Amino acid sequence: GLPGYVKIVEVGPRDGLQNEKVIVPTDIKIEFINQLSKTGLSVIEVTSFVSSRWVPQMADHTEVMKGIQQYPGVRYPVLTPNLQGFHRAVAAGATEISVFGAASESFSKKNINCSIEESMGKFEEVIKSARHMNIPVRGYVSCALGCPYEGNITPQKVTEVSKRLYSLGCYEISLGDTIGVGTPGSMKKMLESVMKEIPPGALAVHCHDTYGQALANILTALQMGISVVDSAVSGLGGCPYAKGASGNVATEDLVYMLNGLGLNTGVNLYKVMEAGDFICKAVNKTTNSKVAQALFNA
Ligand code: HMG
Ligand code: MG
Repeated sequence: GLPGYVKIVEVGPRDGLQNEKVIVPTDIKIEFINQLSKTGLSVIEVTSFVSSRWVPQMADHTEVMKGIQQYPGVRYPVLTPNLQGFHRAVAAGATEISVFGAASESFSKKNINCSIEESMGKFEEVIKSARHMNIPVRGYVSCALGCPYEGNITPQKVTEVSKRLYSLGCYEISLGDTIGVGTPGSMKKMLESVMKEIPPGALAVHCHDTYGQALANILTALQMGISVVDSAVSGLGGCPYAKGASGNVATEDLVYMLNGLGLNTGVNLYKVMEAGDFICKAVNKTTNSKVAQALFNA
C-alpha cells in the first residue's frame, strides 16, 4: 500500500540552479531558500561544495550556506564529492551532506573525474569524517534508469553501487533517473532488485522529467513502499554532465499528486508556487510545473 507520509527533498536550489548558464546572484539564491523554508518542506538541498571550475553556478556555496536563515525543523544538506568539499561544507556550517556516485562508469568519469571504484574510496573518507562529527550522509546513485553515455544500465549494477554506499554508512540512497528516460516498467525492475539489498525505508527516488514519465515513475515507487521523493520547484534542474537532461519533477506537481492521493507531506502547495514564481522571475524562465501553469491562470 501507499505510505501515509511522504518526505519531499527539495533540490531546487542545488539541482535546479546548477545547470543555469547565467550566474544567479547569491542574494537571490538566499531569498529563494528562505522562501522555501516557509513552505513546510522539511529538507532543502542548499548547494554543492564542488569545484567552481566544474560548476561555476555553485561557486558561492559558502556565502549561500552562511547567508540562509535556518528554520527549526528544516534540514539543509549540501553535496560534497570529496574530503576537500566536506571540510569546506562543515566550515560553512553544513550539518548534513550528500555524496554522489553513479551506476555508470562513463558518467562517473565525466561528472566527478574518477571511476566508480575510486569514488567509493573518496566517499568512504568523507563518510568516516562525517561520522566523527555526527553528520548524516545521504548517497546518490546517478544513472539508475539509464546513462547519457552508456544507454541502458542494469538493475544489478544499480543495486551493487547502492549496496556499497549503504554499507559505507549512507542513511538514505537516492536513486537518480539523471536523464529522465525511465518508465514505470524500468523503475519497477530496478527497485525490485535494489530492495533485495536495501530496505525501502532507506531509499528515495530522484526523477528528472525529460520524457514526461516522472510522476508515473514516482507513483510506481510509492506503490512499492518508497516514501522519500526528490523534486525541484518549478521543475528546474539538470546536470551539466548529462547533456539533454531536462528538469526534475516539479515540486508543485508532486505535492498536487500526493494531496490527491490523500498522502501527507506537510507542504503548502500555494507557498511552494510562490517560491517557484519568485525563482522563475529571477532567472527569467517560465515554470515547467503544469500545476503552477494551471493554477496561476485559473
Ligand atoms: P578534479 O579536477 O579531478 O579534482 O575534479 P582534483 O582533486 O584533481 O583537484 C583539481 C582542482 O579542483 C584543485 O584546484 C582542487 O583544489 C579543486 P586547483 O589546485 O586546480 O586550483 N577541488 C575542489 N574545489 C572545490 N571543492 C571541491 C574540490 N575538490 C577539488 N570539493 C571534482 C574532481 C569532484 C572536484 C570535480 O569533478 C567536480 O567538482 N565535479 C562536480 C560535478 C557536479 O557537481 N555535478 C553535478 C552534481 S551531480 C548531479 O547533478 C546528479 C544528481 O542530481 C542525481 C541525479 O540526477 O542522478 C545528484
Ligand atoms: Mg539530478
